[in-house]
Amino acid sequence: GTKFLTLNNGVKMPLIGIGTWQSSDEEIETAIDAALEAGYRHIDTAPVYGNEVAIGRVLKRWLDAGKVKREDLFIVTKLPPIANRPHEVEGVIKKSLADLQLDYVDLYLIHTPFTVNINEDGSFKLDKDGLIEVDVTTNHAATWVEMEKLVANGLAKSIGVSNFSKDQVARLLKNCKIPPATNQIEHHVYLQQRDLVDFCKAENVAITAYSPLGSRGIAKFNAGAGVVRDVPDLLDIPEVKEIAAAHGKSPAQVLLRWIIDTGVIAIPKSSNPKRLKENLDIFDFQLTSGEVDKLLALDKNIRVCDFAFFHGVEKHPEFTFKNQYTN
Ligand code: A2P
Repeated sequence: GTKFLTLNNGVKMPLIGIGTWQSSDEEIETAIDAALEAGYRHIDTAPVYGNEVAIGRVLKRWLDAGKVKREDLFIVTKLPPIANRPHEVEGVIKKSLADLQLDYVDLYLIHTPFTVNINEDGSFKLDKDGLIEVDVTTNHAATWVEMEKLVANGLAKSIGVSNFSKDQVARLLKNCKIPPATNQIEHHVYLQQRDLVDFCKAENVAITAYSPLGSRGIAKFNAGAGVVRDVPDLLDIPEVKEIAAAHGKSPAQVLLRWIIDTGVIAIPKSSNPKRLKENLDIFDFQLTSGEVDKLLALDKNIRVCDFAFFHGVEKHPEFTFKNQYTN
């Protein structure tokens, strides 16, 4: 099968990339090295993950040594929530490019539909309940004008969004010159978001699935922020295990194959060389249509990455994905 998806601007994007959120500082260089060694060319990062400098160091080594060509890499980074305003876009992408030691990124995304307010000293502004203050009136169309300039001046080959709802994508499509190439969202068997995914596909906005394996590391991350949440283990779902056994593949490989078989890009995170290889080794088998249907039937609308670690969503209803921001 094909290993690329052609975006609405003709650019080819590798169907599997390495996700880098929650990779520790010590892990990340080894992980990126191992990923490139295993054949990954698509790397997903963001200033919020705090690892662009480390990733940049590895990329520079590989590029300088001639082990990889820049045009074969597909590097994705994002406009952070604290800079989700038109006048910030150019300065912030230039900082990412300096950190990544690159002249351009392949895809630049608006990381979240909302904006996080900060104080002059850079700390988060807190509301009266002590929660991080959020601006839900962010004007996407205005920010998008600046995103489009990045394509014109060559700093980004493609531009897109992340965590956008159907309404937000629809509104942006009506108010843009360059349509977003992708919407990166949480997407896996337990959170299929069919309405959003089908809408984006019909509008030629590709979907990138984050947490494709259910973000198994997030419980630890949440706990660090004092949030306790049950996280289901997608690798332990009987149907997934059964299909995996039938193909002599692992549950993770079945979950990823299902995503790309439905025309969606996936960015599984791993810091482990063996699992990195495993997650890329999914092109030598195919799910039957019956198996695809079985996996489609697993949808439970369980969101794992609900930003709880960040905001305490229970106390902050306008932040939840149910109440998609009003702008
Ligand atoms: P690790 O980095 O130790 O491999 P997601 O991409 O959905 O956020 O999932 C990432 C989580 O799943 C990480 O905790 C990662 O741990 C783990 N993981 C990644 N690939 C596999 C795999 N093939 N089998 C089991 N666990 C995996």
